[in-house]
Amino acid sequence: MKIGIVGLGVVGLVTGAVLADQGHEIVGVDIDQNKVKGLQCNRSPIYEPGLDELLQKNKERFTFTTDYSMLKEADVVFITVATPTVEGKNYIGYVLDAAKAMKPYLKRDTIVVVKSTVVPGTSRKVKQIVEREVVSNPEFLREGNAVVDTAKPDRIVIGSDNKASGDMIENLWSFTKSTVLRTSIEEAEMIKYAANSFLATKISFINEIANLCEVIPNCDVNTIAKAIGLDKRIAPYFLNAGLGYGGSCFPKDTLAFVSFARELGEELKIIEATIKVNEERPKRAVKIMKELLGGLNSKTVCILGIAFKPNTDDTRESVGLKIAKLLSDEGANVLAYDPKAKTSLVKMVGSKEECVKVADGVIIATEWEEFRGIEQMLQDKAVLDGRRVLDPNKMSRKKFRAIGLYRGD
Ligand SMILES: NC(=O)c1ccc[n+]([C@@H]2O[C@H](COP(=O)([O-])OP(=O)(O)OC[C@H]3O[C@@H](n4cnc5c(N)ncnc54)[C@H](O)[C@@H]3O)[C@@H](O)[C@H]2O)c1
Repeated sequence: MKIGIVGLGVVGLVTGAVLADQGHEIVGVDIDQNKVKGLQCNRSPIYEPGLDELLQKNKERFTFTTDYSMLKEADVVFITVATPTVEGKNYIGYVLDAAKAMKPYLKRDTIVVVKSTVVPGTSRKVKQIVEREVVSNPEFLREGNAVVDTAKPDRIVIGSDNKASGDMIENLWSFTKSTVLRTSIEEAEMIKYAANSFLATKISFINEIANLCEVIPNCDVNTIAKAIGLDKRIAPYFLNAGLGYGGSCFPKDTLAFVSFARELGEELKIIEATIKVNEERPKRAVKIMKELLGGLNSKTVCILGIAFKPNTDDTRESVGLKIAKLLSDEGANVLAYDPKAKTSLVKMVGSKEECVKVADGVIIATEWEEFRGIEQMLQDKAVLDGRRVLDPNKMSRKKFRAIGLYRGD
């Protein structure tokens, strides 16, 4: 098929690359000229395992442009533009702009697929603009695992009014052999928010249990999480206590979901609590470091990890960066190291050794593989293991704290 992808972020690029690999011809459109120029020169704007190889392998079948008229032969067009949360609300302006811009070029029978995360009712607005069949096909990929997740998702949700258009999109994804759920358009939109909010809630839940474990002798949240996770009704995933969730989805989607519900006269109290618990995490990390160092003024603190999670260079809503800001506000000198992510918001150094060497205190904020087994390097430093990558038995208990581990007398 000829497929258009509008919005070449993580979701658009990976969707396009995976579909190109299935032999489809893909036209990727983005309004960001620099991004498109880079892609035309084989430069991927993001780090995502396996993506460069897939783009390289399929470069004859995936073209990049800023010109919407290139969509004129597309059988299917995916909308994968950003949907940030602005003033607490899901901002759908880019989705509607994309719909308006593509409309003049679409064939009569082109199917427009909304893959961006949008509150219920949005795809119907897109339908009014494009005057074509519209399908909602939300994306559940995890950054850092996006290529694998797109090629083999846990499930595929297809919301449509019209059976034939839904069938066509189901058929497009049939190579994944994943379970398909056919729903209404509004249900599909809602499923995405319910899924992200539930996952975020699991994280905040275990983080509150972690807080409690820190003040009970002989308690380690990891043991609690392992035991409750063995119950099939609970499941072991998303029970890793830590410094909270960040990234491009959970923070913005939980906020948008809550305000969407409020507009309809409903309160999502559990999700509101989830957000509140998460907002406390960076403050708690700073409080612990302050206790360990006996104050923060003029102390040097090294943050290991500013990507919001491992295997990505994405720093959107990064907990490491939030901690850096809070530490600076308290008068600390802050340095950071990350294997992939870059930022101008904090002074970055080129290696973990360089970062740790000059520091009084170290906070592990992202569970990159290379931060495991570095206990020796951290001796003599005040250390907060915010992601539980270190072996507490190899650390000096006087200057060491780990999230969810009894903090000692
Ligand atoms: N990143 C994730 O892990 C993830 C996972 C599931 C769902 N989502 C959802 O998918 C959508 C895209 O997320 P992302 O992280 O890939 O976004 P992104 O911010 O990385 O990229 C969005 C792209 O859209 C482009 N864009 C904006 N307006 C445009 C327009 N009118 N025409 C063409 N291009 C335009 C931007 O230039 C940018 O390149 C969002 O709704 C997000 O919530 C993201």
